[in-house]
Amino acid sequence: FGDGALRGLKMVVSAGPTYEDIDPVRFIGNRSSGRMGFAVAGAAADAGAQVTLVAGPVHLDTPRGVARRVDVRSAAEMHAAVLAATAAADIYVGAAAVGDYRPASPAAQKIKKQAGAGLTLALAENPDILASLAAQTVHPFLVGFAAETHDVADYAQDKLRRKGLDMIAANLVGNGLGFEAADNALNLYWPGGSLELARADKETLARQLVASIAQRYRAARS
Ligand code: PMT
Repeated sequence: FGDGALRGLKMVVSAGPTYEDIDPVRFIGNRSSGRMGFAVAGAAADAGAQVTLVAGPVHLDTPRGVARRVDVRSAAEMHAAVLAATAAADIYVGAAAVGDYRPASPAAQKIKKQAGAGLTLALAENPDILASLAAQTVHPFLVGFAAETHDVADYAQDKLRRKGLDMIAANLVGNGLGFEAADNALNLYWPGGSLELARADKETLARQLVASIAQRYRAARS
C-alpha cells in the first residue's frame, strides 16, 4: 500500500479514550486503547495524506509518516484540538471513543470516603465533536465510527443520517473484537452504499478503510 490515493490531502484522525476528571486522582474513562485510530492515521500517511493525529491518553508510539500528533485528555480538550486541526483539513476520521458525559463539578481536592454513605456524581453532557463539525457550513469529509454491542447496522445507519456524516465505520464490540483487541471487523455505510470488511487485524482494516475513504471522497468531491 502506498499508492498515493490521498496525496495532497490533509486528514485529521482522533483516537483513544477521553478521561473526565472526578477529582485530582480519579477519572471516568473507557476501554479504548487507541489502536484502531492509530492504525488509520498510519494507513492514511502511507496513502500520502498529511496526517494530524489527535490522541487521548494512550500508550502508543506515533505511526511512521504521521506529520503531527496532539495529545489531549478530556473530551473538551479533544473538541478544541480537533476544531483547530480541521480548520484546514479535507477529511476527519473520528475513531476516538469520546466520553459523552463529564463530572459536572470536578473536586479540587481528593474526595474523602464517607463510611456507610453512597456517593452520587452529577454528570454534564460533553460537546459532540462530529456534530459540531457537521454543523459548520464548510466542513471536511466526515467519517464517524460506531461502537455497538447489538443492532449494529440500524444504529450505525441512524448515526450516519442524524450526525450528517459522509461515512460511518460500524464495529460490533465485544467477543474479542473492537475495544483493546488486536482484531476488529467493520461494516462501512455511506449515503447509498455499504461494504463489509471481514475480521482482520486493525492495520489491515485501516488500509481497507482508507482505500474506501479515498474512493468516496473523490466521488463526493467530483
Ligand atoms: O481504540 P481501540 O481499543 O482500538 O478500539 C477501537 C474503537 C472500538 C474505540 C473504535 O473502533 C471505535 O468504534 N470508536 C468510536 C467509539 C465510540 O465512542 O462510538 P460512539 O458510538 O460513542 O460515537 C460515535 C461517533 O461519534 C464516533 O466517531 C465518535 O468519535 C463520535 N463522537 C462521540 C461522542 C462525542 N461527544 N463526540 C464525537 O465526535
